[in-house]
Amino acid sequence: MKSEAIDFIYAANWKMFKTTSETTEFLNLFLNKKEILQAQCLFFPPSTSLHLFKEKLSSYKNFSYGAQNCYPEVQGAFTGEISPLFLKDLGAKYCLVGHSERRKLFLENDELLAKKNKTLQEHALTPIFCVGETIDERNAGTTNIVLKRQMEIGLSLVQKNKSLIIAYEPVWAIGTGLSANSEQVLEAHLTIKNVLMDMGLVAPILYGGSVKPENAKELKAIKNVSGFLIGGASLEVESLAKIIMA
Ligand code: PGA
Repeated sequence: MKSEAIDFIYAANWKMFKTTSETTEFLNLFLNKKEILQAQCLFFPPSTSLHLFKEKLSSYKNFSYGAQNCYPEVQGAFTGEISPLFLKDLGAKYCLVGHSERRKLFLENDELLAKKNKTLQEHALTPIFCVGETIDERNAGTTNIVLKRQMEIGLSLVQKNKSLIIAYEPVWAIGTGLSANSEQVLEAHLTIKNVLMDMGLVAPILYGGSVKPENAKELKAIKNVSGFLIGGASLEVESLAKIIMA
């Protein structure tokens, strides 16, 4: 592990995988891997397993966890939704916002995501706001325009003095095994950094989309990449550990 890897963020998005017993098994194995216990890891399990992270991770300063989604109100008649307050109650410190699967499958738009970012910050939870272009948008040469729009609307209600993380996840790279190449990541992260600057915001920028042991080293070396948002490869302790050690 490179020494600067101490501050590099490894965020594990488990999506709709792992029962509570599978999660316990993962955490027992993970916490026995001495060589990675210094890394800064954030876990995003299904919300039904968050209590296990509270039980097992609270004594580790560098490990944290959060939800994959939440509602932008704290209570009310919103059947089936999870309040940021419930997440706090379980010791969560983060929440993913605007993952492309939420945007596509659950029709979440930029305006709704802006409200989620706002409510999370108001309750001292850090949003990890996901942005990224589809393959059609990339082929049409509109990647930068799309990123700018997603950020300008999605971050329109955030507060400058509150914490925020951005994840650049090109939609075409998620779950496909095909990560963006160094040049594409470099350019997108620079665009994101510039938009943040124009908005008076500062935030670490993670890369996500088919991060795996084989490409982790190359992706880590790219300027302005402050961490990874890892889906499939974060489900097994071995592959997550290899990414951390790369
Ligand atoms: P992947 O997913 O690593 O499986 O491509 C990343 C994500 O969806 O956050």
